[in-house]
Amino acid sequence: MKPNKLAEGVYRIYADIGNRDLFEGIWPLPHGVNINSYIVQGEDKLAFIDLVKDWEGALEKVNSQLASLGYSFNDVDYLVLNHMEPDHTGALADMVARNPHMEILCTKKAVPLVSSFYNVEKNVRAVSSGDTVDLGGKTLVFTETPNIHWPETMMTFVPEDHILFSCDAFGSFGTYEHGFDDELTQKEWDLLIPETQRYYANIVSSFSQFVTRGIEKLSGFDIKIVAPSHGIVWRENPQKVIDLYSSYAQWMNNPPSDTVTIIYSSMYGNSIKLIPAIKKVLEEEGLNVLMHEVPKEHSSFVLSSAWGSGALVMAMPTYEYRMFPPMYHILDILERSHVNRRKVMRIGSYGWSGGAQKQFDPIVASLKWECLGTVEYQGAPFEEDEHKAVETARALALSLKESENQ
Ligand code: FEO
Repeated sequence: MKPNKLAEGVYRIYADIGNRDLFEGIWPLPHGVNINSYIVQGEDKLAFIDLVKDWEGALEKVNSQLASLGYSFNDVDYLVLNHMEPDHTGALADMVARNPHMEILCTKKAVPLVSSFYNVEKNVRAVSSGDTVDLGGKTLVFTETPNIHWPETMMTFVPEDHILFSCDAFGSFGTYEHGFDDELTQKEWDLLIPETQRYYANIVSSFSQFVTRGIEKLSGFDIKIVAPSHGIVWRENPQKVIDLYSSYAQWMNNPPSDTVTIIYSSMYGNSIKLIPAIKKVLEEEGLNVLMHEVPKEHSSFVLSSAWGSGALVMAMPTYEYRMFPPMYHILDILERSHVNRRKVMRIGSYGWSGGAQKQFDPIVASLKWECLGTVEYQGAPFEEDEHKAVETARALALSLKESENQ
């Protein structure tokens, strides 16, 4: 693992994390994740931007890359904490013990968290939007970007090199052999784009209005390199990832109208019997159909597909007078992430009594979904149930197409 040079004196030093653990204790990492730190060496001072958590030896990986550049943690004059979540600060107490003299720069909102998470109070300086730190020939310019991802978050810009250190914003899941967008193979691109969408949907989607606001704030900067703290560095086409994030943010209330996600679950097969007929109609209508079986598939992947879909079809039985619990979990995740304003339909079987719909309706209202219909039946579906499901699916497709033309 070697540092990546972004500009003279500016390097990414990073750790590849494997697939054993869950991100934030929730989200699977089948392709791992990077945690990136950066150093900026001026003529007079050395800044270290965003730390790592000591996860799979990340601290030692970063330390050895720092050593390969001829530095140690003790040489750092400024530690910039763009964001306080422990994936970027977990090693803080360790680093302060190694270098008690460096100055920690973070937003005013981050200061109490530096104390509460790590019991560090000395040499902590709050900075605000527009504040600068002169490293000698290179300048750190801070911009507060609250809620991308936590309220205390900021970004750091180095105008001499036109580099934006954006922390969580513009990040991705996945680990990549190459560190820059212009070096990626097609296979890496094929991983990067879906893993960027999944990262966004899982981590940032709830805060989409802040993403839009943050991107507007960045319009004043002449950005030539985007250097996030997860994923790759974008130097050939930094606008590509900014545009991706801008689109993802719009999808909160205005999702793509050409894609439908079918989320299906069943106890004995009756609730999913009509899924093939529904899928066929949607495809006949020219829609992309994404399929997720629950609970076999993790909510991380369901959420990512739902974020990029204008409509959702949900198949679930009633279970003990309520929704089937694995589907309730999915709907809870969709509600927390504000997967708003989708066209939806629901199908499902019940045994002695219904009840799933009663629990489903408030979620429909909360997320401002338009429910095109429910097909609910006792036991197995009959021909009239299939007819109703097919007609509802067709109405769903037509409604999506109408929304595209509005
Ligand atoms: Fe990568 Fe919100 O931490």
